[in-house]
Amino acid sequence: MDVFEVAYQRAVAYRSSVADQPVKPQLDYQQMRARFAGRLPETGTPDCDVINELADLGEVGLMPITHPRFFGWVMGASSPVSVAADWLASAWGQNAAMHSATPTAAAVEETAAGWLLEILDLPREAAVGFVTGATAGNFAALAAARGALLRRDGWNCEADGLFGAPQVHVFVSDDVHASVLSALRYLGFGERRVVRVDTDNQGRMLARDLARRCAACEGPKLIIAQAGQINTGSFDPFATLADIAQENGAWLHIDAAFGLWARAVPDLRTLTDGIERADSWVVDGHKWLQVPFDSGYAIVRDADALQRSMAISASYLPAREASDRAPSYLVPELSRRARGLPTWAALRSLGRSGVAAMVRQHCALARRIAADLAQVPGILVMNDVVLNQVILRFGHDGDGAERRKVLAAAVMDRVVADGIIFVAGATWRGEWVMRISVISGAIADEDVSIATSAIRAAWRQVSIEATSETAIR
Ligand SMILES: Cc1ncc(COP(=O)(O)O)c(C=O)c1O
Repeated sequence: MDVFEVAYQRAVAYRSSVADQPVKPQLDYQQMRARFAGRLPETGTPDCDVINELADLGEVGLMPITHPRFFGWVMGASSPVSVAADWLASAWGQNAAMHSATPTAAAVEETAAGWLLEILDLPREAAVGFVTGATAGNFAALAAARGALLRRDGWNCEADGLFGAPQVHVFVSDDVHASVLSALRYLGFGERRVVRVDTDNQGRMLARDLARRCAACEGPKLIIAQAGQINTGSFDPFATLADIAQENGAWLHIDAAFGLWARAVPDLRTLTDGIERADSWVVDGHKWLQVPFDSGYAIVRDADALQRSMAISASYLPAREASDRAPSYLVPELSRRARGLPTWAALRSLGRSGVAAMVRQHCALARRIAADLAQVPGILVMNDVVLNQVILRFGHDGDGAERRKVLAAAVMDRVVADGIIFVAGATWRGEWVMRISVISGAIADEDVSIATSAIRAAWRQVSIEATSETAIR
């Protein structure tokens, strides 16, 4: 049998049964290491056997991220149509570095870029780089910011680097996503040198504090805000931040890995008011657009700034026409997969209304989960559910944070062990919380009742055990 046929059958068998399986890997990492351990083969194996072996060994260690009740981290469910387009990207064997290497991939990417700007309603002249995700997107966009800010001060950062350059003051919120700090580190800004701006109880940047801190610094300024805080889903006050950026001649960048999709929904759009005044934005495809990993977009208003920071040229590479959208001038890589294809397919399949309906549904389901669980004594919804994120504290005020952490961990262990839903935890305002991210394109309304029942049952059981333990003590 043809090797593609084998892969196809294994993929279809997996995807068509995943919703009936427990929402957890059957084997853990150590068990999987043992399964895959082995010496480098001296001789070859027929292709079809290789793929069957990979699937036979690997399927038991897969995390069912495509399951309708996967609520872990913030991960999309890889919609079938975009997975299929991604297969073509691989099967066609295209290298999306440049037009001449693949006219199709370059053209599809260009159209998808335009569609993204349209659905997200960002400046149509902005450049869009197809990167691996928001981490790489933050890196690319912030590289553009660094170059542009220093150029205004007469410094050519692309040519001369940072040694001896004017200091760029970088402002991030105290609840910034870790990937922004990584990107700043790659760019030579250093995590420790950033100015951290105070936030409110939802993780929103306090504009007053930003204004005060900006006023205290002389020189080029880079302000990094966020749409969709990783725990609470909150949005920074963009309109006010844009005013402050304008007053300070600062570059305003928005880390909007999932939150920017709120802009596609008319009734959620106000959350993003003012965001269009920023200079750069980052958003993922592999989150709310349900594009398979890895897929993100670095969007920069000043296309020239992004191109200068990412440009690559050599005599063996085709010269770039000024009118060209040169794919490799917009991302850190030269050779890369044709990431525009799955994005094009997802947008083609859903259309503007399909994206809006999905995002709206997920936010409504998140509110339902929160409203249901808020009724349960001992469960506290710690965030205002403005988007798709719900964070839950388990235990009572008198228990103390350490005790509540033990209780929350016990509830999470229990629900995950039961395999009815998958959730993960994080620390928020000193509390270990259960994070529920409603972002699976596969979810149906009834999955919410199943999820809340599972959490209620686990909490009931953990409370009973905790009470009897206390009684014994
Ligand atoms: C706000 C925010 N920024 C950045 C990232 C990093 O995104 P990625 O994992 O796609 O690099 C995430 C991931 O969840 C995020 O939520």
